[in-house]
Amino acid sequence: MVRRKRLFSLLNLAMKIAVFSTKAFDREYFEKFNDSGQHQLTYYEAPLNSFTCNLAQGFDGVCVFVNDKVNVEVINKLNDMGIKLIALRCAGFNNVDLMAAKELQIPVVRVPAYSPHAVAEHAVALILTLNRKTHKAFNRIRENNFSLERLIGFDLFNKSVGVIGTGQIGALFCKSMLGFGCHVLAFDQRPSPELQQAGVKYISFDDLLEQSDIISLHCPLTPQTYHLIGKKEFLKMKRGVMLINTSRGALINTKATIKALKKGQLGYLGIDVYEQEEHLFFRDLSESIIQDDDISRLLTFPNVLITAHRVFYERSIGRNYQNHSGESHGF
Ligand code: NAI
Repeated sequence: MVRRKRLFSLLNLAMKIAVFSTKAFDREYFEKFNDSGQHQLTYYEAPLNSFTCNLAQGFDGVCVFVNDKVNVEVINKLNDMGIKLIALRCAGFNNVDLMAAKELQIPVVRVPAYSPHAVAEHAVALILTLNRKTHKAFNRIRENNFSLERLIGFDLFNKSVGVIGTGQIGALFCKSMLGFGCHVLAFDQRPSPELQQAGVKYISFDDLLEQSDIISLHCPLTPQTYHLIGKKEFLKMKRGVMLINTSRGALINTKATIKALKKGQLGYLGIDVYEQEEHLFFRDLSESIIQDDDISRLLTFPNVLITAHRVFYERSIGRNYQNHSGESHGF
C-alpha cells in the first residue's frame, strides 16, 4: 500500500520523460494527452538498450515499447542516472527484468488492458482470412482471374478452437468463437467461471493440442511460456491445424514452425508477432535486402499470413489511455 501510494504520488509529479522507439503516431497521441504540458517529453526514435540508455541521462523516467530491452544491465545504468520510473506503453512486460527493477525500487508501470477487443478481433480476422482466403480472392480478381480453384475453405461452425490464456483478450476471443458455433477449449491456470458458464471447456495443455482444429495463443511471454509451441507440441496437434499468435513472437519456435509447415503438419499460420521482429517490424524495409532467412521462408508459404505487430494500432487506443491508469508491477 505504501509502495502504491508512493507510485501514485510519483505519477502526479511533472516529470521529464525520455520516450524511446517513438513513431509519428506515438508522438501524436502523447502530445494530445499531455496537452497541459504537465510532463516534459523528449522523443527518441532509437530503442532503449544497453547502447542507447545514456540518452536517458537527465530524465526522471523512461517510456518504452515492446522491443526495447530493459534488462538488468540497462536497469542498473538507469538507476545510476537517477531514473525513477519505467513506463511501458504496452500490455506485455516480457522485455523488462522486473526483479532487477524491484531490487532497485524503480516502479514499472504498463497498460493493463491494451485494446483487448482489437487484439481478439484481429485474431478472428487472421482466422477468417486464412480460412476463406479472402486475401487471395481479392488479388486474383484484381487481375481479372475469376477462377475458384484452390480457394476452398472450411466452416468454423462445429470446429474445436483451443485458446491458451483466457485473460482479457483470450476471454473476448473465446466469446467470438462461441458466436461462430465452435467448441471452445481452453487452457489457463486460472479458469474463468464466467467463461465456463458461457460454454468454454477448460482442459489440459496436451488435450487442447490434441483436440483443436484451431489454436490461438493469448498468454504472456514469460520464462515458462518461451517456445511454448515447438517440435514436440506440433507432433501432438491434429494434422493441418491452424495456429494463431497475436501475443508475443517467442511463444512459438520459428524454426520448428517452418518444419511443421513444410511437412503439412501445420496447415495454416496467422501471426501478428514474430520471434525476431525487433529487427524488422515498424520499419519500411521495402528497398532493403532482408537478412532474416526465417521470415523470408515464412513469407513463401501460401498458408501463412503475417501482420507486423499492428493490432494495438487502433482508434480505441485513445480511449484506453484515458480509461486505464497504469498498473504497477513487481512491487
Ligand atoms: P491478461 O493478463 O489479461 O491475460 C493473460 C492470461 O494468460 C491470464 O489469464 C493468465 O493466467 C494466462 N497465462 C499465463 N501463463 C499461462 C500459461 N503458461 N498457459 C496458459 N495461460 C497462461 O493479458 P491480456 O491483456 O489478455 O494480454 C495477453 C497478451 O497479449 C499480453 O501478455 C501481450 O503479450 C499480448 N498483447 C499483444 C498485443 C499486440 O499488439 N499484438 C497487444 C496487447 C497484448
